[in-house]
Amino acid sequence: MNDLIELVNKKLDEFMPICYPQKIFKAMKYTVTLPGKRLRPILCLECCRVFGGKIEDAIPTACAIEMLHAQTLIHDDLPCMDNDDYRRGKLTNHMVFGEANAVLAGDALLSFAPQIILKNSKSLGSEKLVKIMEEYCQAAGAYGVIAGQVVDIESEKLYSNFDDDEQTPEILNFIHEHKTADLFKLALRTGAIIADADEKQLQAVTDFAQNLGIAFQIADDILDEVSTFEQMGKTLGKDKNSGKLTYVSLYGLDKSKEDLKKYIDTCRNILVENNIKSEIFEEILDKTAKSVNK
Ligand code: IPE
Ligand code: IPE
Ligand code: MG
Ligand code: MG
Ligand code: MG
Repeated sequence: MNDLIELVNKKLDEFMPICYPQKIFKAMKYTVTLPGKRLRPILCLECCRVFGGKIEDAIPTACAIEMLHAQTLIHDDLPCMDNDDYRRGKLTNHMVFGEANAVLAGDALLSFAPQIILKNSKSLGSEKLVKIMEEYCQAAGAYGVIAGQVVDIESEKLYSNFDDDEQTPEILNFIHEHKTADLFKLALRTGAIIADADEKQLQAVTDFAQNLGIAFQIADDILDEVSTFEQMGKTLGKDKNSGKLTYVSLYGLDKSKEDLKKYIDTCRNILVENNIKSEIFEEILDKTAKSVNK
């Protein structure tokens, strides 16, 4: 996995030369190249490999998904959103470049990322490129991450009465599915598409991504309460302070930990049932399950 992380880091650097006006390219590159876990690009590359594709063919798409992820982080941290000062162990984008440039850097990344795919993946052919663009637009826009983020922000106001509302579990599920699982789906589905996976395989990785994405966000919600800045590189305890609807605020820590295990087990079953063998997928599942026990 470390080799893949290194490869992704090298390619991200190459794909992002600093052009004029330098301010915007520097702001874009700042958050993208800070040391994230690179989970989504690795899922994309590994999914391509698992279904018999060449890793090189998936590199531009994998890196573009990391750029899109960085866009969601830059905007998520803005004062008008979660208002966070630290990300990946360093000051957030708006703290370094100012709010206007952080908004613009996020906007710029949204179109820069697919441009990287189109410029560097011509050998995939137009049919696959159209499919990848469809997946990208679905995940990045108002059907995807943005839908999740809108309801996430809206949920802050619901805090005082969401305990009694029987729709709240559904709302929480909507938030987690869209703000988090949709990028996991994008990563795994595009990896599978590049490798010419069949419909059944595509469905299997979609289910896997859905369950892994939800598990990952449950872990993030737990870690917001129990972890430290040193481990996570971001200010914690914010969800509670801002009255966010999270897995922990709705169900408590114990049930959150129990359900995290269930989602991870479901992921493992999907791999077994579909005969998908990947040490990297196993490693990601193990790490996600264990992350909350530190
Ligand atoms: C953070 O994602 C946003 C969530 C969906 C919780 P990651 O935890 O993957 O962040 P990086 O990429 O490692 O910084
Ligand atoms: C992150 O949710 C989802 C996106 C960035 C789209 P959070 O707001 O919980 O992520 P962190 O905790 O700031 O990384
Ligand atoms: Mg948020
Ligand atoms: Mg946040
Ligand atoms: Mg969080």
